[in-house]
Amino acid sequence: MGQQTQVTESNTETDIVQDSSGPVPDAPTRVVKGGNGARKQILVVDDEMPIRMLLQKILEANGYICRTAENAGHARELLDEKPSDLVLCDINMPGESGLDFIRFVLKAYPDTAAIMVSAIGDPHLAESMLELGVYDYIIKPMDRNGILISVANAFRRRELEMANRSYRRNLEQMVDERTNSLQRSMSQLENAMNGIVRAIAHTVETRDPYTAGHQRRVADLAAAIAQEVGFDRDQVEAVRVAAIIHDLGKISVPAEILSKPSRLTANEFNLIKEHPQVGFDIVKDIEFPWDVSTMVYQHHEKMDGSGYPLGVAGDEILPESRVLTVADVVEAMASHRPYRPGLGVDVALGEIDKNKGKFYDPEMAKACISLFNSNRFSFD
Ligand SMILES: [Fe+2]
Repeated sequence: MGQQTQVTESNTETDIVQDSSGPVPDAPTRVVKGGNGARKQILVVDDEMPIRMLLQKILEANGYICRTAENAGHARELLDEKPSDLVLCDINMPGESGLDFIRFVLKAYPDTAAIMVSAIGDPHLAESMLELGVYDYIIKPMDRNGILISVANAFRRRELEMANRSYRRNLEQMVDERTNSLQRSMSQLENAMNGIVRAIAHTVETRDPYTAGHQRRVADLAAAIAQEVGFDRDQVEAVRVAAIIHDLGKISVPAEILSKPSRLTANEFNLIKEHPQVGFDIVKDIEFPWDVSTMVYQHHEKMDGSGYPLGVAGDEILPESRVLTVADVVEAMASHRPYRPGLGVDVALGEIDKNKGKFYDPEMAKACISLFNSNRFSFD
């Protein structure tokens, strides 16, 4: 039989801690160290001095560093000076209750474990405390071994939870780093794609100085129309990229035809009319994020099917292509050509107004006219 040391005051909370000298399974026997090699710190909060002293004696004998506080206010001051690894706290104390104090501790010191001690065995109270995050609920009286086992278990669980939190933090950091790296790669790819698209546009325009800048101006207008009719950002970008290279197929047309200062013959015009097909053939195997090749293919199609090269009509033409067609016609008519001076924006807008619904998508045509009429767009 183990010798028992009792605190013998007559108060109900006084003969609650019994000191047995039997073996303490799993309890620390000498110096107990935390994860960083320091000895583990325990704060005992109890309004009864004999209990505080006895708990301190038991815990210190087993290698813990133990501080004591007679109420929650003093305990807060001690934690403020230095946090504890574990708080062992009485429930019923004068002033702030043990439960309110522990609620504060678990919030303010997430790495601090908590064990509650009470003379009252209330299952509902125990459940609410465990839900709060308290590791154990010790009913008085209890013996020395029970206290040490509960403390050892609390530290074991605390270490697991801290390791888990650290693992989650590392994982989140890793995900953030990978996400940032992926975004950087995507941004580099996007810059590379835009650079290649500009290089293609420049190549075409080098052979066709009279239309130099045509594709960029069409891209500016097409993107503005796309925004005006409510395309989302991605669709607007698709229209802009397709517009910048829409005449790419003219690379197959002899330069003297492109810059011929007089009307083209029928044969010459037939050669020119091949450029959407040639452009499509060049672009179709590039994996753009959008259907750029079809937009290039369809930029001379008309709503009534009278366009070229396929003669498709209405909904067979992509909305993006219909925007591109309107922007292309307006820019081409407004600007100088080798065979004629620029006709001006008003004449160009008159053309799409007159033939909206027949050649041009009426919604796109109206949006284009509205942009110019309200001075929200002009060619630079
Ligand atoms: Fe064209």
